[in-house]
Amino acid sequence: MNPGQLNLGQLLRRHGTPHPDTEGLTITHARAYEFCGAVCFGGLRPRAYARLARLSGARSGDRVLDVGCGTGYLTRRMAKIVGPGGSALGIDPSVEVIEYARRKTREPHCSYETGVGEALSAPDGSFDVVVTCLAMHHLPEDVRPVALREMYRVLRPGGRLLVADFRQPRTRPVRHVIAAITGHVMAHYRVETLDGLIADAGFATIGRGDVRPWLRYVQASRAVRPEKP
Ligand SMILES: C[S@@+](CC[C@H](N)C(=O)[O-])C[C@H]1O[C@@H](n2cnc3c(N)ncnc32)[C@H](O)[C@@H]1O
Repeated sequence: MNPGQLNLGQLLRRHGTPHPDTEGLTITHARAYEFCGAVCFGGLRPRAYARLARLSGARSGDRVLDVGCGTGYLTRRMAKIVGPGGSALGIDPSVEVIEYARRKTREPHCSYETGVGEALSAPDGSFDVVVTCLAMHHLPEDVRPVALREMYRVLRPGGRLLVADFRQPRTRPVRHVIAAITGHVMAHYRVETLDGLIADAGFATIGRGDVRPWLRYVQASRAVRPEKP
């Protein structure tokens, strides 16, 4: 990819302007992101995200946090699962996507706040489930462990984590096309590194797998009592 060429990632981030609160790559074109989400998933987005919501292990009445929620597509699905007796909170540094998510949401138990994954404002142990989808590759490599430790901190003991992110296509020509369209960050992202990062943050991994067409997920839990060193 020619570095001077404008790719999709830069377009969705208004030519890559950095956000003052994070070194993460923030999305500022909410409607364009929604459009690209629909196109890139080729009609499989509703099914893929409904599956992620089920894989999170969330149940009726749970308190859920969605880190890097973007336009709230997964947050709303989480809100449906937990019902009005629970809550789903999406956080994202981008004011633009948070405002878009609020406009799209009817349920009072589904809400959004601006915030960054590497410094969550929630108190310790305040969620039953934390989910994050397609957000880890938006963080610089050295910030990913910090964000995962924050997710660990805000989960109650016994709480569940679901991390999903972009899985490189298996065939080289498709990989090249994706890299040309999306740009450097996605082209170089290795979702396999998530397993080690999640374990290092203190979680016990309980499952992993693929969700078509582009996602790999890891399910983990925060131990009820941490193991003694
Ligand atoms: C590709 S979007 C994914 C949005 C949504 N989770 C989804 O699956 O459609 C990545 C999101 O991560 C957000 N992001 C960037 N830096 C972040 C940070 N430091 N903390 C949390 N989210 C961040 C971006 O603003 C963007 O909305």
